[in-house]
Amino acid sequence: MSVHTDVKRVTTNILQKMKAGGEKISMITAYDFSFARIFDAAGIDIILVGDSASNVMAGHETTLPITLDQMIYHAASVVRGIERCFVVVDLPFGSYQGNSKEALHSAIRIMKETGGHAIKLEGGIEVLESVKRIVDTGIPVMGHLGLTPQSIYKFGTYNVRAKEEAEADKLRSDALLLQEAGSFGIVLEKIPATLAAEVSKSLQIPTIGIGAGGACDGQVLVMHDLLGINIEFKPRFLRQYLNLYEQITGAVQLYIKDVKSSEFPNESEQY
Ligand code: KIV
Repeated sequence: MSVHTDVKRVTTNILQKMKAGGEKISMITAYDFSFARIFDAAGIDIILVGDSASNVMAGHETTLPITLDQMIYHAASVVRGIERCFVVVDLPFGSYQGNSKEALHSAIRIMKETGGHAIKLEGGIEVLESVKRIVDTGIPVMGHLGLTPQSIYKFGTYNVRAKEEAEADKLRSDALLLQEAGSFGIVLEKIPATLAAEVSKSLQIPTIGIGAGGACDGQVLVMHDLLGINIEFKPRFLRQYLNLYEQITGAVQLYIKDVKSSEFPNESEQY
């Protein structure tokens, strides 16, 4: 029996046991009640209320514009839809980089106003004091290393990170620092699979990969990518499990046709 199937609620302890027992952790993003309910009932381990909401929900080019209030709205909606999975909420750009007091204040708002179970923030040594302060307050923290989209204007591209030894070394050291500071897990985004494997092996806490290869302790995908809602986005790391764009287009076109031809509603669809 796997660790996760017979638990009533996924917790940081369960995630830790899954890593120790070699059971992979499944994580997906969600931003609203209805999808969160489906993903939770399907048995997902973690829902990430990602700041990718800025892209896929609001249509912004980057994750930078989304606000703390908007993240709280999305996260509270997600939490109302779940019974079992663990909910991690992104601290958005500008809500934690100033200082550790600001970071703690934002994390507390997320916990009090959404009912989420943990927060995630991007960066290593730069945010370490904030990670410690938030963890010391009793809030679980997930790190995020490699391609950190809140720094897109510093990177200049969404290309694979840490291919050069200096950046790979910093990532190795940041991962250890985040673990020592009390993080319960780390997202590794778009880094070479060999580096992700090495980091995952060196840590006691689970790593969750996106474009970081199969040796991570778990995987995360943005729901719009996995379900084929966002069809323009086709990076090599993405496995698209559905083509919802096509299916929804077909359904809505049928509906339009039925309305125009007075096929809908029929006798049994009225009072
Ligand atoms: O915001 C997000 O969706 C994320 C994932 C890509 C890990 O941070």
